[in-house]
Amino acid sequence: MKDMPRIHFAHLPTPVEFLPNLTEILKGPRLFIKRDDQTGLALGGNKTRKLEFLVADAQEKQARTLITAGAIQSNHCRQTAAAAAKFGFDCILVLTSAEVKTKQSNETASQDTGTGQIFAVVPDGNLLLDQLFNAQLVWTKPEDREKVLQKTWIEAEKEGRVPYLIPYGGSNPIGAMGYVFAMKELMDQLIECPEYPDYIVFPSSSGGTQAGLSLGAEMFGYKGRVLGISVDEREAVLKERVASLANQCSQLIGEKHVFLPSDIHVNDAYLGGGYGVMGKTEQEAIQLFARYEGILLDPVYTGRAAGGLIDLIRKGFFAQDKPVLFWHTGGTPALFAQRYQSSLIPSM
Ligand SMILES: Cc1ncc(COP(=O)(O)O)c(C=O)c1O
Repeated sequence: MKDMPRIHFAHLPTPVEFLPNLTEILKGPRLFIKRDDQTGLALGGNKTRKLEFLVADAQEKQARTLITAGAIQSNHCRQTAAAAAKFGFDCILVLTSAEVKTKQSNETASQDTGTGQIFAVVPDGNLLLDQLFNAQLVWTKPEDREKVLQKTWIEAEKEGRVPYLIPYGGSNPIGAMGYVFAMKELMDQLIECPEYPDYIVFPSSSGGTQAGLSLGAEMFGYKGRVLGISVDEREAVLKERVASLANQCSQLIGEKHVFLPSDIHVNDAYLGGGYGVMGKTEQEAIQLFARYEGILLDPVYTGRAAGGLIDLIRKGFFAQDKPVLFWHTGGTPALFAQRYQSSLIPSM
C-alpha cells in the first residue's frame, strides 16, 4: 500500500464495548459498539478520521482556507471548522437550510446570505460550535448549494486565500482513507477479542465511511458484512457511490481491489420522513441507548442507523449466535439543537 500524508490527531484506537443491557432487552445477538463518538476533535465523530488525511493534503498543497458545505446541523462542518482552528487555516462553511427564503422589503434578517435571501437562525447544536471555531458562514437553499459553493471557492481564490475544497461529508478517496485504517484498527482489536462480529452496522450517507470500511475489509481480511443503513439515499444510488469511492481509494493507494455496486451492502428501509427528520424510529433508538447503556446517539445519523439495527434484530435478520457490532459515528451535538428537543423529551 502506498503511503499517504496523514496528521495523527484522532484519539485512537476508539474502544470496542459490549452492550449487555441492550443485548438482554432486545433478546437478539450479542451487541457491541465501536466508539467513534470518542475520536476527539470537537466532541468526536467519524469526520476526525477523514480529516487526518484531508488536512494533511491541504497542508501539502499549502492551502490557507478550508472550504466545505453541509446542512445546518452538519457534523462534518463542525469538525472541519475545529480542524481549521487547530491547524491555522481559515474556514468557510456553505450551510444549507430549506428555510432560507427571499427577503421581503420590510423584513430584517438575522442572517443575510448576501444574495437578497435571509434566514432566521437559532445558533444551537453544531451551528453554535461552527461559530465558536470562528468559521465564516455562507447560507444557501439546498438546491443552490453547488452553485454557491463554486462561487465561494472562486471568490476565495481571487482574494488570494488559497482555498482547499473538502467535499460534502469529507467523502473523497483521500477522506475515505480514514476508514480504511479504521478497519485495520478493528481487526487488531479483534485479535484480543474472541467475539468476531458477523455484521458491522452504521449510518451511511455521503459514502466515505462505508467506502473506507469496505476497502479495509478486503485489505485486512474482515470476514463479516459491512452494512450501511442509508440516512438519505435510495439503495441503488448509495451502492453505486460507495463502490465508485472504494475503487478510487483503492487506486489511490496502489491496491488492486475492485468493487461492484452489488458488493456493497446497504439497507434503505429507514429513510423515514427524509434527511434530518426525526421520527419514532430515531426517537426510540436514542432513548434505548441512553436509558440502558448511558450512550448518546444523534437524531440524524446514529439514531436512524441504530433504529434500523433494532428493527432488524426484532425481525430476526441477524444470526442469534453471532455478535453484531454497531459502529457509532458521532453526531452528538445535534442532540442540543432546539428543533429536536420536543421529540426527545416529549414533556418539554
Ligand atoms: C454522525 C455521522 N454519522 C455518519 C455520517 C455518514 O458518513 P458518510 O458521509 O461518510 O457516509 C455522517 C456524515 O456527515 C455523520 O455526521
